[in-house]
Amino acid sequence: MANSVITLHGLTKQYTGAPRPALDRLTLSVDAGQILGYLGPNGAGKTTTIRLLLGLIRPSSGQVFVFEKDALTDAAQLHRDIAYIPGETSLWPNLTGAETLRFLANIHGGNDRTYEKDLIKRFEFNPNMRVRTYSKGNRQKIILIAALSTRAKLLIMDEPSSGLDPVMAKTFRDEVRAARGNGQTIFLSSHMLEEVEELCDCVAILNNGKLVEQGTLDELRHLSAVTVEATFTGKPPDVSHLKSLTNVEVHGQFLRCNVNGSIDELLAVMAKAKPRSFLSRKPTLEELFLSLYEHDRKQAA
Ligand SMILES: Nc1ncnc2c1ncn2[C@@H]1O[C@H](COP(=O)(O)OP(=O)(O)OP(=O)(O)O)[C@@H](O)[C@H]1O
Ligand SMILES: [Mg+2]
Repeated sequence: MANSVITLHGLTKQYTGAPRPALDRLTLSVDAGQILGYLGPNGAGKTTTIRLLLGLIRPSSGQVFVFEKDALTDAAQLHRDIAYIPGETSLWPNLTGAETLRFLANIHGGNDRTYEKDLIKRFEFNPNMRVRTYSKGNRQKIILIAALSTRAKLLIMDEPSSGLDPVMAKTFRDEVRAARGNGQTIFLSSHMLEEVEELCDCVAILNNGKLVEQGTLDELRHLSAVTVEATFTGKPPDVSHLKSLTNVEVHGQFLRCNVNGSIDELLAVMAKAKPRSFLSRKPTLEELFLSLYEHDRKQAA
């Protein structure tokens, strides 16, 4: 694809001695200027995908192209255009925040110093302490500031907002949006579904090394057409016979469920039970994720 920044084709990674592949024939592409949310439960294969994108590990089969170059053989050249935020970092404990930023900028081959200063202010980061004395969130800020200030064409982030407080998590989202505004492409692996929902143009959901779903949020929402919430004067009606429902939850007089397909049957059952309140809305990404995950687990069982 002409405009594609990342192209994964039939990508499989079998770690030596592992019982099953960490990635299983994954095909996926990310277009220039997009933010892709990369989701999946623990052990799904997200970090493995990122290591392959960075050319840190070798695929068992399949291909990884970044900017139309081979991620493995052209890694050195590609890394000038990529900034990476790892899920787990070990920094040099005796350097200060500022020294660490200089060091990381040099490794990358330079950064935008003015933007770095802005980021230090926006993240309310004190660069004058030794790394070993920073809290978890403040260590994460070093990595974020270092990566964002490169203004690299591709940002690859593995759980970037972990450890940030809500105010800083918002600052982070603002900066990611600004990066997209700049034309940068962002690969965002995250467990923060609200963050993904707010930021991402498209979403890929991985489970057991396989792509479960891929598309824009609106496209994914069609998989689970609508979420219904209703309260009754007594016990909610029995809806267990309705095949179109997933994620059915009953708490006292309250019922919530996802409807996949026509809502007619559910309305008929509910109308008889005379609801006190009724609300139908688009499902959140969290509801979609849980519903897809539940479906996948049922199939695997
Ligand atoms: N170096 C390794 N050697 C063997 N198996 C590995 C190795 N690294 C990862 N795995 C396995 O590969 C699978 C995918 O792991 P990966 O770290 O990619 O998951 P993840 O989606 O990033 O999970 P999390 O959300 O917990 O970070 C897991 O089953 C994991 O145990
Ligand atoms: Mg991971």
